[in-house]
Amino acid sequence: MDVVRIRGGNSLSGTVEIGGAKNACLPIFAAALLTAEPVTIRNVPDLSDVRFMADILERLGAKVERLDPHTWRIEAQTVATRAPYDLVRKMRASVCLMGPMVARMRKAEVSLPGGCVIGPRPIDLHLKGLSKLNCGITIDSGYVKLDGSQLRGGTVFLGGRHGSTVTGTANILMAAVLTPGVTRIDSAACEPEVIDLCKMLISMGANISGVGSHALTIEGVDQLHGTDHKVLSDRIEAGTYIIAGAVTQSDITVKGAQAENLAAFLDKLSEAGLAFDILDEDTIHVRGADSVLRPVDVITLPHPGFPTDLQAQTCTMLALTSGLSIVTERVYPNRFMHVPELGRMGADISIEGPSAVIKGGLPLSGAPVMASDLRASAALILAGLAAKGETWVQRIYHLDRGYEKFDEKLAALGADVARLSDTEMPKDISVE
Ligand code: EPU
Repeated sequence: MDVVRIRGGNSLSGTVEIGGAKNACLPIFAAALLTAEPVTIRNVPDLSDVRFMADILERLGAKVERLDPHTWRIEAQTVATRAPYDLVRKMRASVCLMGPMVARMRKAEVSLPGGCVIGPRPIDLHLKGLSKLNCGITIDSGYVKLDGSQLRGGTVFLGGRHGSTVTGTANILMAAVLTPGVTRIDSAACEPEVIDLCKMLISMGANISGVGSHALTIEGVDQLHGTDHKVLSDRIEAGTYIIAGAVTQSDITVKGAQAENLAAFLDKLSEAGLAFDILDEDTIHVRGADSVLRPVDVITLPHPGFPTDLQAQTCTMLALTSGLSIVTERVYPNRFMHVPELGRMGADISIEGPSAVIKGGLPLSGAPVMASDLRASAALILAGLAAKGETWVQRIYHLDRGYEKFDEKLAALGADVARLSDTEMPKDISVE
């Protein structure tokens, strides 16, 4: 198994290019099932989650081709009606197949996803939404069985105790575009990835209004056609590199960082004292060398609030910032698996309910640490960049789910980061 070794202390410089957004790609790939015509998807990041979604679509009967490393073509002339457990359990996001499968085939059986390390991730809102479209739903032997023979438009409220649901909104949207009548989604998620899905569906002939707001109206059409869609840039990848500039006190340029989609995050970093310039709509220059960071309080919220997917990386930054910061998770109140590992590197962070209380400013020292999930992996690598000595991050398959060539991109900026085999780890620190 691979590990990432970071030798901390290097300053970074240069430009990093951000790829397409993973969390937009997954529902966009699923949306290709809504038409028998070919769909071309560009700016697709080269990630294990994307390859995995491509495998699922192929197993469901679609013809899936990778035209180049970042362009895929999907043609779903036939679609199977069952997505089995052995596929779905590997990636939670495969739950977003429910909407397109039932819309296209009027019948679907999708295995329920299992647990998730970042906390409970129910799909009650997805099911509530589908039931409002008059979809029959039964849960049997670990599967959601959907009967879409009587689908018709309806009004759906998708707000839950942690806000709206991103994948749930995608599911209802994808079901509604081929459902007769008018569907209204209230308390819809308005994440940029949902907007990107709407743009793609509209380019396929869907009739959607209110895009970007919390109230979407969809007028069902009989069929959709093929399209050619370019996926938007990954705001979470961009934010992660911005923090890399902050924690290494370096000046770097992040190309593909769309300030418009990072407003709450950039506002908070500005409050924390990070200097940066928005060079254009797609480029941010981080001036970490000029910045003296100060503690801040952060609360994660659904978009346009501070993104939960940048919480772990922000904890790393605040652990390195002198003073008391409090980071509160409102989307996944248990998403703090990175905290004990940061503690092993010398950070002083305690968890109080849904909050991390960070007494920042202690020097970090390199240590062997274990990645528990995607964003935790990034947070630990960022900590390694600023720590004294060597950090070895194990279980980095989590990282490869959502960051294309993270190690190589950091190395190109001047970091001492290498991907090695775990056999190259000093024997006394390897636990695998
Ligand atoms: N929720 C419910 N009921 C539901 C659905 C969600 O209570 O039926 C709750 C969840 O438990 C959570 C909150 O609502 O507390 C938000 O969940 P949401 O459904 O919005 O999350 P998701 O669609 O499953 C996507 C991203 C996550 C990201 C969240 C929040 C994808 C594939 N995943 O998940 O990305 O954290 O939205 O922005 O789009 C990541 O990239 O690291 C990642 C975990």
